[in-house]
Amino acid sequence: MSTAVTPGPGTPQSDHPGDTLVSVEGIKVHFPIKRGVILDRTVGHVYAVDGVDLSVRRGETYGLVGESGCGKSTLGRAVLRLTEPTAGRVVFDGTDLSTLKGEELRRMRRRMQMVFQDPMSSLDPRQSVESILVEGLRAHDLDKGREATGKRLRELLSAVGLPSTSLRKYPHEFSGGQRQRIGIARALAVEPDLIIADEPVSALDVSVQAQVVNLLEELQDEFGLTYLVIAHDLAVVRHISDRVGVMYLGGLVEEATSDDLYAEPLHPYTRALLSAIPVPDPVVEDRRERILLTGDLPSPANPPKGCRFHTRCPWKQATRCDTERPELREVLPGHRVACHWAEDIRAGKLRPHEVEAVLVEEDGISPDIPLVGPASVTEALNP
Ligand SMILES: Nc1ncnc2c1ncn2[C@@H]1O[C@H](COP(=O)(O)OP(=O)(O)O)[C@@H](O)[C@H]1O
Ligand code: SF4
Ligand SMILES: [Mg+2]
Repeated sequence: MSTAVTPGPGTPQSDHPGDTLVSVEGIKVHFPIKRGVILDRTVGHVYAVDGVDLSVRRGETYGLVGESGCGKSTLGRAVLRLTEPTAGRVVFDGTDLSTLKGEELRRMRRRMQMVFQDPMSSLDPRQSVESILVEGLRAHDLDKGREATGKRLRELLSAVGLPSTSLRKYPHEFSGGQRQRIGIARALAVEPDLIIADEPVSALDVSVQAQVVNLLEELQDEFGLTYLVIAHDLAVVRHISDRVGVMYLGGLVEEATSDDLYAEPLHPYTRALLSAIPVPDPVVEDRRERILLTGDLPSPANPPKGCRFHTRCPWKQATRCDTERPELREVLPGHRVACHWAEDIRAGKLRPHEVEAVLVEEDGISPDIPLVGPASVTEALNP
């Protein structure tokens, strides 16, 4: 039985609240930075996720994008409570996950599965495919004896496009794309409602990426799955997602349907990200706006005050930007943006300008901790 909860103050408003499978409300994940051998002093925090509200509707694919280090994986793990959030809550199918413990949490976890970026490191090399898949079934008491389970395993492999002879093989005997199919079969084995796919194709050759993306789409239709797909690559997310959320330094800066976001990005950061992707049409390619982001991605241990993007924003204004953190608010129907000036930028009343390099102080945290992300969007998109 699930306990119904009333929406919290940060809950995104929806006309059909029943359509929401999972909602993330004010989630923060702060990792302490420890120093000292004997006295384990906390000298600061990495604000990996710092106040995210979003909801994923039943049957949809929500794509989460952003530069490497902006907190996407941490958010994904917090949704599953693989990482305990510092604040906020996750409501899954009407149940506040923070109220669940032990057996209840374990049963709920069956309904939420994760697919990882690198299937080689997420699959135990010493286990055969059969034992990898059976392990998942056993963990949730779904092993119904030899015959039924054997049939189930063959169905699973066929669903992900692998021959049943794969059962006796080991992960190293497969290609990268096939291994990701095994990872997907493992997630599917327990009949989840939600799959969180964290960079599911980033480690694969471009030619194989499309096959795995297509497989995910087919499986969604066949099994009525809901997806949260995480990627640093906007192109991957665009094709698979119904809606897209863009993250920057631990926060959501923009959210819209995939079509709206790509047709008219409203947040300066999203505009910059999209302008970095070449367009195949040479005429369009020549004419379009190109926004170069200068300055380093600030450290999540010391995020800029006010709007987190102000140190790199070509539209930064003299007021509000460096003092007041913008809320994610609906600027067009279904299109939320965290920028004080979104309307004026959209109307062309404000024009982009050069960005001066801003020195970000380290607040007493020594620079030898590698907390700074990639130097540029290009670097983040081509790691
Ligand atoms: N367990 C952890 N302890 C300390 N810092 C962490 C931990 N996990 C992630 N981080 C930091 O949190 C930030 C966000 O990381 P992550 O969620 O992996 O970003 P992304 O998936 O967008 O690349 C990074 O600065 C990363 O170094
Ligand atoms: S609030 Fe200011 S700094 Fe932030 S994105 Fe908008 S214009 Fe840029
Ligand atoms: Mg990640």
